[in-house]
Amino acid sequence: MDFIKVVPLISFLYACIHIIAFGLLCKNKKSPKLPPGPPSYPLIGNILQLGPSKLHQSLTKLSKTYGPIMRVTIGTITTIVISSPKIAKEALHKNDQALSNRFIPESVQALSHDKSSLIFMPISPKWKTLRKICATKIFSSQQLDSTQSLRLEKLKELVVYLKENCEKGKAIDIGEVAFTISLNSISNTLFSIDMASFASSSSQNFRDVISSMLIEASNPNIADYYPILRRIDPQGSQRRMKNYYQKLLTLFESIIEDRSNQRKDCVMEGSDVLDLFLNMIRNENSELTKHDLLHLFLDLFIAGTDTTSVTIEWTMAELLQNPEKLKKTRKELQKVINKDEGVKDLDITNLPYLQAVVKETLRLHPSAPILVHKSVSEVELCGFKVPKDAQVLVNVWSMGRDSSIWNDPNLFVPERFLESGDVFREEDFGFIPFGAGRRMCPGVSFAHRVVHTMLATMLYHFDWKLVDEEKCEDIDMTENFGVTLHKIKPLIAIPIKEELENSYIV
Ligand code: HEM
Repeated sequence: MDFIKVVPLISFLYACIHIIAFGLLCKNKKSPKLPPGPPSYPLIGNILQLGPSKLHQSLTKLSKTYGPIMRVTIGTITTIVISSPKIAKEALHKNDQALSNRFIPESVQALSHDKSSLIFMPISPKWKTLRKICATKIFSSQQLDSTQSLRLEKLKELVVYLKENCEKGKAIDIGEVAFTISLNSISNTLFSIDMASFASSSSQNFRDVISSMLIEASNPNIADYYPILRRIDPQGSQRRMKNYYQKLLTLFESIIEDRSNQRKDCVMEGSDVLDLFLNMIRNENSELTKHDLLHLFLDLFIAGTDTTSVTIEWTMAELLQNPEKLKKTRKELQKVINKDEGVKDLDITNLPYLQAVVKETLRLHPSAPILVHKSVSEVELCGFKVPKDAQVLVNVWSMGRDSSIWNDPNLFVPERFLESGDVFREEDFGFIPFGAGRRMCPGVSFAHRVVHTMLATMLYHFDWKLVDEEKCEDIDMTENFGVTLHKIKPLIAIPIKEELENSYIV
C-alpha cells in the first residue's frame, strides 16, 4: 500500500483508539466500583460467614480485612456495611436523601404496619408529619416537663419496691425492673396510665410480646434475602408478627375508646398526649387519623421500651463490674440530690459523671448496634458505588470499639466523656448510639431523662451486691445480637442499705 495513503488511515485509527479509551476512562470515572468484600457463593452469598447471633461482631471482623466500607451479599441482597465515622457521616448527612429509607424485613409487613409506621415508612410527607408530631406533642421539653410528675411517681414506687427487697435481702432482675419503669414511663407520658407493676406478671407479658416482636424482626428470615419467597411467608414469621401486633393494637384501641367515652363530645385542654391527639383527630383537616395514632403508639412502645431498659441493665452491669466507678457515681449523686425531694429531671445537668457513665455504656453496648437503611438510588460513597436498593448497614457497635478512635476501646472509662458536654452529640460520628441525620431517634430527649433518673434513683438510695458470692469480675457480659443488644445472662443483684436517710419514702 502506498505510504501517503496509509498515514491518514493510521491517524484515523489512532484517533479512534484515543476517543474510545478516553470514553472508557470517563465511563469508569462516572461509575465507581462496588466496595471490596469477601468472595461470595452463588445463591447463598456470604451467609455462612455471618453468624446471626453475633452479626455486629462478624461484620466488624470482616471489615478489618475489607475496610470501613465493604460489600457482603446476603442471599441475593447486596449489602453495604459502613464502619467508620467519616463514611457514616457521608452516608447519613451528605447522602441522606438517598440513604434514609429503611430495608424492611418481611415480618414487619404484617397488617401492612410498615406502610403506617414511623419507623419503616419511606421519607415522605406523612413521615415528616409524624416526626413533627413526635417532636412537638410528645418529646418537646415543655411537654416532657409537664408529664414529669407522672414519671417521678413511678420512681418513688421503685424506691419502695427496692426497699422491700433490700429489707428481705432479696435479689432482683435489674432488666425486668428497668423494663417495668420504661414501659410505665412511656404509658404515663402518653396516656397517664400504668401498663405494669413490679408485683404483677403484666409487665412480663408485655415484655414477652415486645421481645418476641424484636426477635421475630431480627431472626434470619429466608424471605428477606430471597424476595421471591415473600409472598408465601415460608417461616411463618409474618403470621406470628400479626398476632403480636394485634395484641397491642387491641390494647391501644381500648385505651382510646375509654378516653373518648370519658371525654364525650368535649375538647379537653391542657391534658395528656392522648387528649392532645384526640383533639387533633376531631379536627376535620387533621393530618392525623386514628389509624395513624394506633400504629404510632405501636412504634413508640416497640422502639422505646427495650432500648431504654437494656441501656439501664448494661449500665448497672458495668458499674457492678467496676466498683470504683460505682462509688464515684454514688458520691456524685449524694452531693447533688436533695434528699427531701428525691431525683428529678432537672438534676441530670448537675450529674456529669453519671452522664459520662451512660455514654460510656452506650459506646460499649449500643442498644441498637446496627442502623439498617436502604438506598433509593445509586450513590457514590468515598469513591465506591452503593447500588440502588442495596441494604445499607452502619455498624455503630464496631465504631464504638475502634482502637483508631478510642484509647483502650474495650475498657469501661467514663472519664473519657467528661469533656464532651451534657448531650448526646450527633456531629460526633464515632459515637452515634441514637443514629444520626434524618432518621435519628426522635425519643432521645425522653430516653435521656428516663435512663438517668432511673439510674440515679437506684444508685442514690441503695448500694448493690451480687448474688451467691459472685465476684464482680465474673459478671457475664456476653452480648446477644438482635434489633436490640441484650445481655445473654440477666443481671441479678441485691439492693443493700446505705447510710443516707430516704426521707421522702413513707
Ligand atoms: C436508650 C434508648 C434508645 C436508643 C439507644 C435508641 C436508638 C435508636 C436508633 C439507633 C434509631 C435508628 C436511627 C437510624 O436509623 O439512623 C432509633 C430510631 C427510633 N427510635 Fe429510638 N432509641 C432509644 C429510645 C427511644 C425511645 C424512648 C423512643 C420513643 C418512646 C424511641 C423511638 C424511636 C423511633 C420512633 C425511631 C424511628 C425513627 C424513624 O425511623 O424516623 N427511641 N432509636
